[in-house]
Amino acid sequence: MDGGARRCLFSRQELEGRIQELGTRLSRDYAGLNPVLVGVLKGVFIFMADLVRALEFPVEVDFVRLRSYTGGTESSGEVHITKDVEVPLRDRHVLIVEDIVDTGLTLDFLRGHLASHRPRSLKICCLIDKWERREVEVPLDYVGFPVAQGFLVGYGLDCGEQQRTLPEIYVLEKD
Ligand code: IMP
Repeated sequence: MDGGARRCLFSRQELEGRIQELGTRLSRDYAGLNPVLVGVLKGVFIFMADLVRALEFPVEVDFVRLRSYTGGTESSGEVHITKDVEVPLRDRHVLIVEDIVDTGLTLDFLRGHLASHRPRSLKICCLIDKWERREVEVPLDYVGFPVAQGFLVGYGLDCGEQQRTLPEIYVLEKD
């Protein structure tokens, strides 16, 4: 399913520029705090790779993998951990890094799970805040781009495992 109509929403240049801005802000806010960045696989892998290289100091990274989507464009509503964190988070400054927030169910679950590790602080950075279908309020401390709606692909985001490696972000056009 590599075909299908799609429209470019964020160009490479826009992504690079915004990630640089996020990196500058995070570098200021986390200077001297030795944070751990916890990325949510798989969609985050490209954003995370660019974000850590926009920071002014080295950070520790870890990843979780959660299942919330059945593979299409609708959420199943349930969240399961299929890969947990490995770095001890107790008393650390933890920043969750997520590609896109839709209903908020995934992040709400993950926040609760990571909070049980008793980190010193726990914040969230997401590239896309897709706000219109939010079901649970989650505090998004750092947001790349707010987007009302639409199913997005590219720059790590997939639709049924396709279109993840597109360098820009596209919105799938409805027929
Ligand atoms: P939420 O639990 O509804 O907030 O969904 C979050 C997860 O759903 C993200 O981590 C993505 O994996 C997936 N998702 C939500 N919207 C999109 C989209 O527009 N494109 C690709 N994946 C999405």
